[in-house]
Amino acid sequence: MNEITLDVKIAKTTIDRNIYGHFSEHLGRCIYEGFWVGEDSPIPNVRGIRSDVVAALRKIKAPVLRWPGGCFADEYHWMDGIGPRERRPTMVNTHWGGVVENNHFGTHEFMDLCDQLDCEPYICGNVGSGTVQEMSQWVEYVTFDGKSPMADLRRANGRHEPWRLKYFGVGNENWGCGGRMTPEYYADLYRRYALYARDYGDNKLYRIACGASGDDYHWTEVLMAKAGDTRTPRGCQMDGLALHYYTSVKRLPDGSREGSATVFDEAGWIEIVSKALFMDELVCKHGTIMDKYDPDKKVAMIVDEWGTWYAVEPGTHPRFLYQQNTMRDAIAAAVTLDIFNKHADRVRMANIAQTVNVLQALVLTQQEKMLLTPTYHVFDLYTAHQDATLVPVDIQSERYQHAGYSVPAISASASVNDEGKLHLTASNANPHKDIAVSVFIRGLKGRTVEGQALHAAAMNAHNTFEQPDVVKPQPFNGARLTAEGMEFVIPKMSVIALDIM
Ligand code: AHR
Repeated sequence: MNEITLDVKIAKTTIDRNIYGHFSEHLGRCIYEGFWVGEDSPIPNVRGIRSDVVAALRKIKAPVLRWPGGCFADEYHWMDGIGPRERRPTMVNTHWGGVVENNHFGTHEFMDLCDQLDCEPYICGNVGSGTVQEMSQWVEYVTFDGKSPMADLRRANGRHEPWRLKYFGVGNENWGCGGRMTPEYYADLYRRYALYARDYGDNKLYRIACGASGDDYHWTEVLMAKAGDTRTPRGCQMDGLALHYYTSVKRLPDGSREGSATVFDEAGWIEIVSKALFMDELVCKHGTIMDKYDPDKKVAMIVDEWGTWYAVEPGTHPRFLYQQNTMRDAIAAAVTLDIFNKHADRVRMANIAQTVNVLQALVLTQQEKMLLTPTYHVFDLYTAHQDATLVPVDIQSERYQHAGYSVPAISASASVNDEGKLHLTASNANPHKDIAVSVFIRGLKGRTVEGQALHAAAMNAHNTFEQPDVVKPQPFNGARLTAEGMEFVIPKMSVIALDIM
């Protein structure tokens, strides 16, 4: 028996729209080609930023974009990326293929991109190889309204008004590519760097500390104890603590991953679904540690890197992390977003890695062509949850088992918006079986139900530049309102979204 029970009357927590956030790094073809084509490109663009990608991301209301990394952030020197482009110095992107970075996409271009997307910028500063002064000056350059060396430099570079900047990360993965630090050492550095990243005028920064990798609970314990304790007046110096978790078949010693994004069997399918579901344990356990130091949940958990990570597509640069995206990734995205929704009281931002052409991308480009991946379509189906009120769901699901893995077949989340419209998203991870589900709805008597479904004929179904619409949402008419709520049959390996009024 598969049942979902929900009570609209107990809905109280807002699902922060930033849970549907993005991450874009100077890595492979994410920034260059993915977003930035330059003003002289034949690809339609606005001030060098490609218009098709912007339009696609606006459609799903991309709320926040994290930049410039990732590992790149801790070797990025922001002053190299301002001023006339032809005079900007180059650097070597040592993490990502040793390619030459020409710095044509810098602070002004990033803020323009965020304006075009109508999203919040989230800048990640350099702790690993940068100075306190450098980070401090970056914030001054971006946000200071008065007369100062950095504000004057910004004006000389063509931007008179300061930008609004809320989200600011103090380093990235400082336990690894961001400086190989111990949590104790980083926590001290965090406090110092965060102090000099000042609030200017009424621009209030939201400071995000580097968080743990996966199940490194000790990192969270130390960071919360040293910089996140809200129980004492000066114990808390952070607004958010990050967490990174990638879903992979196998991580190799050099950091690359095994397993093809498109060539896999059913064992590979369920392994990824099962590992994506591990996010729930991570959020619960890191959250329990945070609760100890921050019982009122003032400090947000910011999952600012998540997604699937496979071996790169054959023939592509091994450090450009370009991978295809199938129905398997759609299910992984759906169950992960359900987990974030469920924990919306603590998780207030998440940033999928990475928006375009890298890892679990929403958008892939090939010169002037662009395609939307199955993961994009899941974000599209989930857009209605942004800033809606979470309706907790109780799910009784049969298990889907294979190759020693066992997962609940059904995952779901629900929210209600200001107009009283209920939005239910659900997925069926079983690639063989359509499943009948009864939904018991309390506190709302549905009069109409409309739906969309994302499903495919094969586990590895994906969109290509030749066939870009193999996997895309279709109208779903399989839901029927009942006296107690609703019934539907969710197709095998599918994600559905239902609006109940
Ligand atoms: O997203 C790719 C890389 O994964 C990021 O640069 C780094 O932060 C993480 O290890």
